[in-house]
Amino acid sequence: MITGKELRSKFLQFFKDRGHAIIPSASLIPENDPTVLFTTAGMHPLTPYLLGQNHPMGRRLADVQKCVRTIDIDEVGDASHLTFFEMLGNWSLGDYFKEQSIKWSYEFLTDEKYLGIAPEKLSVTVFCGDADAPRDEQSAKLWLECGIKEDHIYYLPKKNNWWGPAGITGPCGSDTEIFYDTGKDDCSPECSPACDCGKWLEIWNNVFMEYNKNADGSFSPLAQCNVDTGMGLERAVCVLNGLKSVYETDLFADAVDCICKLANVEYGKDKDTTRAIRIIADHIRTAVFLLGDRLGITPSNVDQGYVLRRIIRRAVRYAMQLGIDKSGIDQIAVVYLNQYQDVYPELKENREKVIDELSREQERFGKTLVSGEKEFHKITDKLESKIIDGKNAFRLYDTFGFPIELTEELAHEKGLSVDVEAFKACYAEHQTKSQIGSEQHFKGGLQDNSEATSKLHTATHLLQAALRKILGDEVKQKGSNITAERLRFDFSFHRPMTPEEVAEAQRLVNDAIERKIPVIFEEMPIEEAREKGAMGLFGDKYGEIVKVYTIGDVSMEMCGGPHATNTGELGEFVITKEQSSSSGVRRIKAELH
Ligand code: SER
Repeated sequence: MITGKELRSKFLQFFKDRGHAIIPSASLIPENDPTVLFTTAGMHPLTPYLLGQNHPMGRRLADVQKCVRTIDIDEVGDASHLTFFEMLGNWSLGDYFKEQSIKWSYEFLTDEKYLGIAPEKLSVTVFCGDADAPRDEQSAKLWLECGIKEDHIYYLPKKNNWWGPAGITGPCGSDTEIFYDTGKDDCSPECSPACDCGKWLEIWNNVFMEYNKNADGSFSPLAQCNVDTGMGLERAVCVLNGLKSVYETDLFADAVDCICKLANVEYGKDKDTTRAIRIIADHIRTAVFLLGDRLGITPSNVDQGYVLRRIIRRAVRYAMQLGIDKSGIDQIAVVYLNQYQDVYPELKENREKVIDELSREQERFGKTLVSGEKEFHKITDKLESKIIDGKNAFRLYDTFGFPIELTEELAHEKGLSVDVEAFKACYAEHQTKSQIGSEQHFKGGLQDNSEATSKLHTATHLLQAALRKILGDEVKQKGSNITAERLRFDFSFHRPMTPEEVAEAQRLVNDAIERKIPVIFEEMPIEEAREKGAMGLFGDKYGEIVKVYTIGDVSMEMCGGPHATNTGELGEFVITKEQSSSSGVRRIKAELH
């Protein structure tokens, strides 16, 4: 039996001994690729270096990278799909290429000192060539030299033997994939590693990154030839131990055990229960890693936050089906926090946050899940066709917090479908309405161009900056309303502020006022504003050129104004109220005296 921990350390040691620097896992939130939501492969954070930039740790690197892929989220529950996984990888950034890469892979897999797999259990695939890149005879020859038999080498097209780019553009190339033969012997003679009958399990992928895919779909040669390899940790541990499912590996043992105890069920006994256990085990692990990431996100209705929300809500629903309550889910999360904190120290640092956020999201959803399911059944009982219309799907979303995918899943279970396009139309209509709402508000503010409102606008920016400094990045503007007498500022934050925090926010704003900082107004393209880190809603409504107000090193925010020209004009800032506005949103009222 080889454990996840042993495989991680064997892999890293092997490449360390061969001159590779071991680098820590990058964040799950990509820092240099706006075209994807999550880090999906080990090479992803290394993109600039694959393109030619010098990496501070050298040209040979190895690591274990946290990855999230949600494209197959609906498949989770079967034996092998996961939304979070760890990827073992080694890289050559313009250093060694095919020969060294293939030889090391073979050595690591087959040598008794490392994994000791019998060579006849391995098959490999190589690229058969097309108009973009030639047939990879070199790799096939290298595998032969290693000891792989000719009839264990398969030439396959781009669909199978090409990897990348991770986003829309970027480094990519042909690959050679290594498969483990499970010994299944009732296959057709045509069966090859391209077949997903279960005979062949991919354990390692060596990508020879020589090309850049351009925005127009063409491929151009990169300045350097790179190697990018990836071995999925969970999958490899599963295969090496001859297990049927990744959920049977030690990486899931404690969590599955915990789930079974909480629900008083047995793993592997009946299909539906096993599927539910797997979904809970997978989704909670993913939620723990997303919440506990260095650039951790929190559940919301957009982008990564929405995916996280969807994952948590799906886990909660399956947990409730098995009779697991909120404290049970927290316990499962704790199992993962304990298990992984030595490998990923950020989980230790963010332990409280992970548990708090998970609890909060469960509470938000728990309140409406039961009534929402009732509503769902009411809707579907009355259906005349087999399709849930957009309006009803939107109501389930808006009133009961059901992500559209959840409604689709419930519908699917009942043999129904959802008119997702109509849902999207309802959603867009709702967005437009609330946008008009806020624009009208905004106009209201503009009409009153008095000195008093200008000062309060500036005070609002200082307040938002102060709140983010004290309470963190979770704070984002949710609404603002200014009269000649006071400002009202709504912002996302999950709990009441303490009196000390309120006092500190007031003090920070008054500090900025005392420093008599000029308020600089500039117009710039939205991309520039975003790059400079300006706060604001980057929605379409701002158009291409945006107005940005900068207050020294305190604040930079997109805004229509009007504003004071110097913070010194503001007078004394006094917070008169801090209260709840709606779920997850706080409201501050303040005045200038
Ligand atoms: N990028 C390749 C993969 O994800 C190899 O690391 O499989």
